[in-house]
Amino acid sequence: MQDSKNDTTIDPNELFAQFSPSLYFDAPQKRGDTITATNDQADNVTTDSLSQAPCWYTLIEQDVPASSETFWKTVRRWTAEPHFVIPPVEKADIISSNTNDSDHAEISEDITLPFETVVRRLVPKRKSKDQVLTETVKYYEHFTEDSTYEGRVTYTPDIGSSTDSSLPFYYPKVLAYGFTYTTTTMDGDSGTLRLQILPLQSSDEPPTISDLKMRKALEAIIHKLFKWCIQARLGYKKKAHHDTLVPKEIYLDKYQEIKTKYADFFVRTWTEKTDPKKFVYEDLAIASYLICIWLMEEEKTKRKPTFVDLGCGNGLLTYLLNKEGYQGYGVDMADRRIWEKLCEGHNKSDMLRVEALYPSSVTYKADWIIGNHADELVPWFFVIPCCMHGLDGSRALPLANEEGGKYLAYTNYIRSIATQCGFDCEQDYLRIPSTKNIALIGRHRLRTIGQEQLHAIEAPGRGFTLRKTDREKEELRRLSNKNKNGNGNNNNNNYNKRARIETN
Ligand SMILES: C[S@@+](CC[C@H](N)C(=O)[O-])C[C@H]1O[C@@H](n2cnc3c(N)ncnc32)[C@H](O)[C@@H]1O
Repeated sequence: MQDSKNDTTIDPNELFAQFSPSLYFDAPQKRGDTITATNDQADNVTTDSLSQAPCWYTLIEQDVPASSETFWKTVRRWTAEPHFVIPPVEKADIISSNTNDSDHAEISEDITLPFETVVRRLVPKRKSKDQVLTETVKYYEHFTEDSTYEGRVTYTPDIGSSTDSSLPFYYPKVLAYGFTYTTTTMDGDSGTLRLQILPLQSSDEPPTISDLKMRKALEAIIHKLFKWCIQARLGYKKKAHHDTLVPKEIYLDKYQEIKTKYADFFVRTWTEKTDPKKFVYEDLAIASYLICIWLMEEEKTKRKPTFVDLGCGNGLLTYLLNKEGYQGYGVDMADRRIWEKLCEGHNKSDMLRVEALYPSSVTYKADWIIGNHADELVPWFFVIPCCMHGLDGSRALPLANEEGGKYLAYTNYIRSIATQCGFDCEQDYLRIPSTKNIALIGRHRLRTIGQEQLHAIEAPGRGFTLRKTDREKEELRRLSNKNKNGNGNNNNNNYNKRARIETN
């Protein structure tokens, strides 16, 4: 994503003059979903009471000449510097900030989990008169069915179960408020901003805003956000360098071709718990990208490269690459329902194999090793880093909070391992519906390294422990429940089998 125009040729005043919001104060627009992005109160709403749950309403809408990256930069500033937005506030103390690495977790059916949650305390200027207020801030991003990108931030005041009387005067009288940024062109430089609220009282009637002062205040808020987005755009230094290894047009042509062949069928017949809109399109995009890289290689070698996909999960990527003529197989410690279908007409183990890998002791005869969001295997085989595991499989890496966040710090850590191993580690940003979209590619090895050096690099991974599969976890849960209920039969075959593997 980038603000593609050359901003030195753009008159900032022209951008600022585009402010002309659509106001829905008399008829707030209901947001499609009701419950996804709220606070503990709303999170606690049970399914039974969903119909009465409050829903989000859009009050103002404004097109903005800025990319999603500048939107996020602006939002982070908004969270860190509320005193520029709410004058009675002196500052915000950030109490905690947690990133959620599970955006690729296959167990999660909920693609609307926040990728980051910040708790901040608003400290007022007049300490003896005005109250301190704690707020939970959540950042979300996802792609909708029609491939529209939506970035979303919600601010939820901590008022427990009480009502607006416990909100300080400087705060809007809402259960939560937030902003969304939507765009249909991920690498374009424009989108739509929306100011949304979750009203205090749930009611069938939309929460109309009749108070003139309130209307002015809300309009001022979106104006400020709009201005900050433009300022961020003007001072923006591009961080995400897309298309560094594959020209955009070539990639998009290939993606179109692959999507036309496979997307419809797999989205319609998806048997996994995961969301096909995310997972199918992501694998189509990664397959297209890899094929583009491989086509360049084929020009030189005059043959199609072979591959092995480690931690292949649902196996779709392996299937697509095979279908496109690339010989290779996927390995994962847990098989998936969909494997049967993908392997129809083939010997299953030719394409998808169940195997729990101890990464320091495996070797493969293949031109390419793919590790697509492969969790614990990432530091050993790199490629598309995801959930910040160290070489020992744990998530206890002491990552510095670099500019660009923990994910960039993790990517740098993975790259440093690859570089120490002698690879010329290239980097590209993939056009996939995931926040973890950096690809690290080691096409060329600049030097080989000796055993001693290799051992030194691998040393932190000596305690590598194999994770439990979801099935094993489920069985353990059942066992523990049984034991709790006094039915203490812990003779579980699969788990025992696995325990043996672990101690071998
Ligand atoms: C987040 S999933 C990604 C799956 C797939 N590559 C994708 O992108 O959809 C990580 C996968 O790595 C597998 N995995 C993790 N550690 C493994 C190990 N030591 N041996 C084999 N598979 C492993 C898990 O079972 C899981 O399927």
